[in-house]
Amino acid sequence: MRNLEVRIKPTAAGAEDLEVVPGEIPRLTNGGMLCRARWLAVDPFTCIPSGTAPRLSTGPRPGDVVPALGVCEVLESRNDVFTVGQQVVLDCGMRELCVSDGRHACALHPGQSPASTALGLLGPPGMGAYFGLLALAGLRAGETVLVSSAANVAGAMAGQVARIKGARAIGIGGSREKCDWAVRHARFSGCIDRNTENLGSRLRQLAPQGFDIYFDNSGGEVLEAVLAGHHLAPGGRIVLNSVRQDDPAELLRRAAYAPNEVSLLRLRVVEYQHRRGEFLKDAIAWYGADRLACREDVVEGLENAPAHLLKAMRGENFGRPLIRLGS
Ligand SMILES: NC(=O)c1ccc[n+]([C@@H]2O[C@H](COP(=O)([O-])OP(=O)(O)OC[C@H]3O[C@@H](n4cnc5c(N)ncnc54)[C@H](OP(=O)(O)O)[C@@H]3O)[C@@H](O)[C@H]2O)c1
Repeated sequence: MRNLEVRIKPTAAGAEDLEVVPGEIPRLTNGGMLCRARWLAVDPFTCIPSGTAPRLSTGPRPGDVVPALGVCEVLESRNDVFTVGQQVVLDCGMRELCVSDGRHACALHPGQSPASTALGLLGPPGMGAYFGLLALAGLRAGETVLVSSAANVAGAMAGQVARIKGARAIGIGGSREKCDWAVRHARFSGCIDRNTENLGSRLRQLAPQGFDIYFDNSGGEVLEAVLAGHHLAPGGRIVLNSVRQDDPAELLRRAAYAPNEVSLLRLRVVEYQHRRGEFLKDAIAWYGADRLACREDVVEGLENAPAHLLKAMRGENFGRPLIRLGS
């Protein structure tokens, strides 16, 4: 038995300095379960170092295993809840084997099929889009919603939830290919390629009265352009999903919005964990009825994980970045 791990090098100058090394075989303790990862999520935000991300209390340090959510199979169990052979979703880190005490782990729902969907559309990113629009922003039928990173998992879900609820969704993507996918498969009404089109004039053209909601997945210059260009309608809501370090309140001040003209709503997916059942009921039904599309960007084996993570950090992934692990 081996246990390959992706670590931030002990001598790393930045989170992108990664190595794949054999780790210890974890020992099963009382109440614990030994799990083998089958799918791992690749999330650039998990590599934001401690103290620099506004919404992540702890981040990895040099020498740490890269944090990752995974779908794992229970190989041995001394846990009261999870049994051998069961598939569970848990924070296992980017490694082949892990031991968990079962806290914060969830059994894979039978509707989360294929299992990779539990890390994407039918998992935390999809749940963030669902509650961000419906609970936080109070989406209403007939509204116009703008979504950045429209071809990524949270963006695609946000656009599709908006459409299912009778709103019109316009996307922003990083390439023509991403935008074509967002329109053709996630059925956005339109999508702007932020690299080749004039964002400001296209936003004005697609929503002359302004957007009711902006679901922000990218932060940075896209968020700045949307705010500086006054593309929100009065009463507009901005759902801040990106964990990038921006100061949207300062951007609003600089753009001279009137007080309370638009609301800034910070999304924290973990705060909706207790409503996971509600989300899964809707999302699994929509997925089963072919009303939701999501693209996956999959590589095989942990050896390929660092390159895949670096690609996602540059925003070059096209779909939900995932690692599939064999037996
Ligand atoms: N709120 C929460 O509790 C919570 C929890 C976890 C994660 N998140 C955040 O949710 C957001 C969506 O997650 P996701 O998995 O769907 O997407 P993601 O792949 O992490 O989103 C990143 C995307 O941002 C866009 N982007 C814009 N400017 C960029 C730049 N300068 N460098 C790199 N990328 C840039 C790229 O998409 P385009 O090329 O299409 O523009 C890129 O693919 C992420 O920002 C993630 O950090 C939120």
